[in-house]
Amino acid sequence: MSRTLPKSYHVKSFGCQMNVYDGERMAELLDAQGMMMAESADTADLVILNTCHIREKAAEKVYSDIGRLRREDGSSPMIAVAGCVAQAEGAEIPRRAKEVDIVVGPQAYHNLPELVAKAARGENALDTDMPAASKFGSLPKRAQQAPSAFLTVQEGCDKFCTYCVVPYTRGAEVSRPWRAVVDEAKALVDAGAKEITLLGQNVNAWEAEDERGRKQGLDGLIRALDAIEGLARIRYTTSHPKDMRDGLITAHGEIDTLMPYLHLPVQSGSDTILKAMNRSHSVGSYFRIIERVREARPDIAISGDFIVGFPGETDADFEATLDVVRAINYAQAYSFKYSARPGTPAAAMDDDFVAPEIADQRLQRLQKLLNDQQIAFNRTTVGRRTTLLLERDGKKPGQRVGKSPWLQSVHVETDASIGSLIDVDIVGAGPKSLAGALPERKAA
Ligand code: SAH
Ligand code: SF4
Ligand code: F3S
Repeated sequence: MSRTLPKSYHVKSFGCQMNVYDGERMAELLDAQGMMMAESADTADLVILNTCHIREKAAEKVYSDIGRLRREDGSSPMIAVAGCVAQAEGAEIPRRAKEVDIVVGPQAYHNLPELVAKAARGENALDTDMPAASKFGSLPKRAQQAPSAFLTVQEGCDKFCTYCVVPYTRGAEVSRPWRAVVDEAKALVDAGAKEITLLGQNVNAWEAEDERGRKQGLDGLIRALDAIEGLARIRYTTSHPKDMRDGLITAHGEIDTLMPYLHLPVQSGSDTILKAMNRSHSVGSYFRIIERVREARPDIAISGDFIVGFPGETDADFEATLDVVRAINYAQAYSFKYSARPGTPAAAMDDDFVAPEIADQRLQRLQKLLNDQQIAFNRTTVGRRTTLLLERDGKKPGQRVGKSPWLQSVHVETDASIGSLIDVDIVGAGPKSLAGALPERKAA
């Protein structure tokens, strides 16, 4: 069935920050086609669900979301499924959900305009290719930016942790070239960004030759971005312990614009489980990295990811994870119950699986500990004078919300505009956000 070309679109992104970035790039691409962004999925002619396949719940959500797009009069917008579910399930998606018009993988979304035209003609619109030439070259220039912007510099993963779908949904590790990244960073700053978070599934594996043909790692790139006028803050995520090289560690002590925050997932505190996960690091090597990062930058906030209930995880393995958490003291963390994913090696270890109630109990205990640590970390920052990047209005009139260097949300009463960097004293700490106050000015 053919239909009219959509005039408006709405993108919904799920999953990691890389999907948020991709969602923004898709929007810019459709803007360049003369389409208008619709405020909600209810009014858009085209709805893009930019999906995540990391855990079963996330992947299954797509199908209920598709169902919910049906309108009261029985009609549906044009529906595109993008992201990692699109890559993993491909043609299976329109078979399961007839409403779906377009399926487009994370490496193919530069072809979205063509796919939309195909779908409008009633043709099969599926593209999950991982072409040799990167999509980035065919995307339009960066548009108006919020104070804090994402910039994908590295995609894909070669690590093949036994539980994880990312190497299959995002393909092999690829670093974007030096010039492309530096130019995009400059464009983001010209468009209003004050902070850039460099993104990659293994962002610290990024490497490329600079203009003079010298091989550079992520620290070299950060140094180049540090020289961009108007760029006040640099962050990067997510890192893998195996790629945490010396230069990047020392950069934390040397570059002021590099924020004191490191997201470095360990996943488990048991070497047996780490081995079964194929994590290619041990508990000991992880500790040494954290120690050295803290030497370089004593006030650095450490964040991590954890999986509980991996096949074969015993009580002792889990207790070892709690021990690691106690020893590291996380400022922030994400923890998940293991989810068996189709096609991954761990999914075949099912004779060894952990009972769901046990996994639930472990997750609760871990989350309680991590939550307590986050509150404790926030309390240690009370009394500090620091800088906030104001990102949005607060709930109360006259209030703004900004981020501290340690990625905490801080409320403050100020008339300074969004996008400005202001000095504040941290005066209070709750579990999710903190209160800041403008430093008292000396009477004239
Ligand atoms: N590349 C990053 C993050 C990948 S996905 C890294 O290696 O750290 C984000 C997090 O999801 C992972 O760190 C892991 O904690 C979690 N995760 C991945 N696969 C999972 C699975 N099958 N079940 C439960 N959690 C999973
Ligand atoms: Fe997945 Fe492991 Fe790669 Fe991270 S490093 S994306 S957890 S395979
Ligand atoms: Fe999810 Fe894909 Fe990111 S599976 S976590 S959206 S890389």
